Amino acid sequence: MDRRRFIGVTGAAGALLQSRSASAQTAAPPEQILPGVWKFSFGTPEKITPASTRHYPPAESGFNVLPAVSACPVAVHAAGSRRGYLLSIPLAPNEGVYGLGLQLQSFIQRGGKKRLRVNADPKMDTGDSHAPVPFYVTTAGYGVLVDTARYATFYSGGKKRKKAAGAAEPSPEQSAISPNMLPAAYRRSSFGERTEVLVEVPEAQGVDVYVFAGPSMRQAVQRYNLFSGGGALPPRWGLGMSYRVKNDYNQEEVLTLAAEFRDRKMPCDVIGLEASYLTHAYSSSFVWSKKFPEPAALTKQLAQKNFRLNLWEHAFTHPTSPIYEALLPYSGDYEVWGGIVPDFLTPEGSRIFAGYHEKEQIAIGVSGYKLDECDNSDFTGNWSFPEIASFPSGADGEQMHCLFGQRYQDALQSVFEKRQTRTYGLVRSSGALAAPYPYVLYSDLYDHKEFIRGLANTGFSGLLWTPELRNAANPEDLIRRLQSVALSPMALINAWYIKSPPWKQVERNANNADRFDPNWEELEAQCRAVMEMRMRFVPYLHAAFVRYQREGMPPYRGVVMDYHDDPQTWPVDNQFLMGESLMVAPAFAGESGRSVYLPAGDWFDFWSGRRLTGKQRIQIKPPLEQIPIFVKAGTILPLAQPTLHTDDPASWRLTVQVYGETPSAVTLYEDDGSWNPSLAEVALAWNSERRSGSLRRSGGGSGPRYEVAEWKQIG
Ligand code: GAL
Repeated sequence: MDRRRFIGVTGAAGALLQSRSASAQTAAPPEQILPGVWKFSFGTPEKITPASTRHYPPAESGFNVLPAVSACPVAVHAAGSRRGYLLSIPLAPNEGVYGLGLQLQSFIQRGGKKRLRVNADPKMDTGDSHAPVPFYVTTAGYGVLVDTARYATFYSGGKKRKKAAGAAEPSPEQSAISPNMLPAAYRRSSFGERTEVLVEVPEAQGVDVYVFAGPSMRQAVQRYNLFSGGGALPPRWGLGMSYRVKNDYNQEEVLTLAAEFRDRKMPCDVIGLEASYLTHAYSSSFVWSKKFPEPAALTKQLAQKNFRLNLWEHAFTHPTSPIYEALLPYSGDYEVWGGIVPDFLTPEGSRIFAGYHEKEQIAIGVSGYKLDECDNSDFTGNWSFPEIASFPSGADGEQMHCLFGQRYQDALQSVFEKRQTRTYGLVRSSGALAAPYPYVLYSDLYDHKEFIRGLANTGFSGLLWTPELRNAANPEDLIRRLQSVALSPMALINAWYIKSPPWKQVERNANNADRFDPNWEELEAQCRAVMEMRMRFVPYLHAAFVRYQREGMPPYRGVVMDYHDDPQTWPVDNQFLMGESLMVAPAFAGESGRSVYLPAGDWFDFWSGRRLTGKQRIQIKPPLEQIPIFVKAGTILPLAQPTLHTDDPASWRLTVQVYGETPSAVTLYEDDGSWNPSLAEVALAWNSERRSGSLRRSGGGSGPRYEVAEWKQIG
């Protein structure tokens, strides 16, 4: 089938689907609702869905940078059944399927079955996730969003319908990807067969499906992110280092630790408090405990040292909370940890919750939140409300689980919007249309390789993810994990269960008993170097996030997204692209080397400056102090002077590294941190003949300015 043309419901798969179901729909042709975005409407969709409860409108102006597409790239067929609603979307023999949200245990989704259930501790690769998203994108260059707040099941190819009597046996087709090119886990991916994605949406009597054209995979994801509202732009301080203190710290201990970070020259922009600042944490009272007698003084003292304060909490509201009584009528009919569950789908519930947070926390200088426990678990103590719960908004528990993380973010976002203050925080659950939320996902899971797969995977679905660092198996593990953290959307050390920074002692019990490693200062120095590396990348990362906001381009993504014409990139889930010009291939403790796939084009080793030829797999042995980073030939890479925090004026001073003979200009943005920054554009260009660089500024306000201290030609 010609993928670039909409075939309609009379296509082969549609006929098959219709022959199986009494209530098959003859849908109207899809409606083009935005450039390159088509909407199929089937039956009577449910009232509560990600799109119907969305907070952000599409970022329409961003579509201007994308090529025009005249026809819907794929047909969607649908039928009602007693089980709910069934969709069928064809898959070509050579089409790789990616996405479905934060999937830590698999990458290529073709051939798999995923039931998209919100769950905190997935034990197997079944679709349980902190942030499942009913959106997938394929190597044929289009994406599909099923607008549902149900635990939908996606069979991404590989299911075979019974052959119709008299139908000719389809001849096998040539596939560009053969099973032995794939790791064992993906050999079941049914490449080489014409098949279909089947989606079962339980309960629903209809569903809207959105198709996002490319023509490339990147452009399909861009359109999805723009449809979601465009990507989040963190404040610069959000891109510095974040450190969360142990959950029993008091106000004095926080200030002592903050002073120690500055004295010992360990970069840090954000300090996060865990549960001990609350009079009651599980469930949450939202009231400052005796351990924090003067919270306003705390935020002020921290601000004087250029730290922002982030607060952990969850939404389940304890009876001692001052908002408990007011929230009661706007909460669900089940408790969690003795607290009520606010119904953030009701404006009143959100207002009560948000208003209190504004008055007691945000107004005194709290910069953001870590919104914990907003997922669900069947595997760790079976906490959270049941799927059969009901809420005043009309949502049941299943729908609320699918939407809870985002609507919780909305409630607090309303305060930051009102106060015209940017934030950047953490959240443990998210879903469809999440790109505009300045929140990063995290987990209690702790497998370093899965965490890197998370970085590659989340870019397909409009999500951000941090492979946070806690304790470590040994110093090598600490350095390797910190390196990955330092090149992620939020450079987070989450020391919530260790008393002292992990470089003093990596082992949890010994750390808590103050038994420091005899060589801790050496380890601290190694960690300082990694954290300084992060600070050098802040301008580059900030520019990547501006593109996320304006053009929907995910700052972090799997290699396949940019190179889907090369099947060698399809299974690569242990490397990721960071911004336009860098590819990261993290090293893991206990492994003396690793292989790296370099896609087509020339690349430079960031550390040695050595030029490497692409379209090949190479073996490397990265020394402990280096996380492998590869720079695309033709890149102008601005690196900041490392500073202890992003408020330091020196953080605007750049060393610009030039890679290859004819590099193209790069644009940075001067961000004064305001709500709607005017973002002066700073173009850095290199004249190869004269071997000199130039900086050209246009637009912008009176905020701090970039200056180039040095130009360096590499290779
Ligand atoms: C967990 C969370 C951890 C930490 C802990 C504190 O749910 O994932 O990062 O915040 O709670 O109790």
